[in-house]
Amino acid sequence: MEPKFKAPRGTFDVLPEQAAQRERLLRAAHEIFGRSGYRGIVTPSFEETALFERGVGKSTDIVRKEMFTFEDKGGRSLTLRPEGTAPICRAYVEHGMHTLPQPVKLAYSGPFFRHERPQAGRYRQFNQIGAEAIGSDSPLADVEVITLLSDLVEELGVPGVELKIGSLGSLEARTVYLDELKSHLRSRSEELSEDVRERIEINPLRAFDSDHPGTQAVMTDAPHLLDHLDAADTEHFAEVRELLTAASVEYVIDPTLVRGLDYYTRTIFSFVCDQLGAQSEIGGGGRYDGLISQLGGPHTPAVGWAAGVERLLLALDEEVEVPPGDLFIAVADPSQQAKAVALASELRHHGLVVELDLAGRSMKGQLKHADRLRSAFTLVFEEGGAARLRRREDGEENEVQPSDVLEMIRR
Ligand code: HAM
Repeated sequence: MEPKFKAPRGTFDVLPEQAAQRERLLRAAHEIFGRSGYRGIVTPSFEETALFERGVGKSTDIVRKEMFTFEDKGGRSLTLRPEGTAPICRAYVEHGMHTLPQPVKLAYSGPFFRHERPQAGRYRQFNQIGAEAIGSDSPLADVEVITLLSDLVEELGVPGVELKIGSLGSLEARTVYLDELKSHLRSRSEELSEDVRERIEINPLRAFDSDHPGTQAVMTDAPHLLDHLDAADTEHFAEVRELLTAASVEYVIDPTLVRGLDYYTRTIFSFVCDQLGAQSEIGGGGRYDGLISQLGGPHTPAVGWAAGVERLLLALDEEVEVPPGDLFIAVADPSQQAKAVALASELRHHGLVVELDLAGRSMKGQLKHADRLRSAFTLVFEEGGAARLRRREDGEENEVQPSDVLEMIRR
């Protein structure tokens, strides 16, 4: 029978058999964040729409087409967060974090929402993990955040990953280059996709990212921003590269690298994985030295990234087996249930994984269930009150006192 209700288009359920792998990923990420002093931050799932318009940029695909925007009962325009950096910068300013020792190093994970055309690796609700170092313009900060993601990829064992880096220069220095790029695009505008043509004036860099053949042809001889960086930006980018090498992080320089959000300045980077199809980026980010001041805070340089949890999981494509429990407690008759519950509760407090029958099974059914769960031990409260402990590994069975069970299992 067709189910009456299904998860909305572009969303998915994480079923128990998939949850273990996801938990392993998040644990690994938070451990890596913690080792470099990145502390957790949680912001709301929705924000004022204007935050994203201003932060992410009105000319981006995200703001133009992909936001889940709604009006609340008070007539305020709100948007389900499409990304985490603008909200975190909003929180940084709102809570006066510029008065803390800088940089403030933050890490996060949670759901994000974009109304995109769903396909493998692209969803309307997806999860990101990310890290932001706010309040430092040092190339050391760029390299520290990049290393976090490179360590995660390595620790998880994601195959076929390549790190691409580039630089967008500072906002002021970029203006001269953008004029040159715009005139290149204008001179061949009839070959461009409609989307790129419409955005020549407001977002010419996006042309590098187009999958439209005509646009791609125009871009093969477009001027590259990397050849137009000013002295300070060139120096910054060179230091980032040197320090990445010092940190043993491999990379390739991609002079055509651009990103889908407007706030980037100087370093940008992208981790791509050849195990994924069209949606090959598992994570990326860069510097955003102008964002905090744009949101009304003091001038504050910052750098960070986010990675797609589902893309990492797709690239890993592995099964993490749920480890078997320690003990299953079976009872011969219902009068022993209270005893079983009390023992289960005590042993769980000691950290053992303990299960009981919750479905009114016969003794035979309970033992079969214990088998399915692969519990290392089964304790049977027999008729008359005796208790027998059976070890799954070799079938050894002993009559025991319930108070000795913890000791025996630990042994
Ligand atoms: P982003 O490139 O838009 O950057 O997204 C980061 C990652 O999220 C992508 O590399 C991808 O793995 C994943 N992702 C994005 N959209 C989807 C989707 N529809 N379905 C599944 N996964 C998706 C940002 O969001 C920036 N806030 C990153 C950043 C942090 N920059 C500086 N700090």
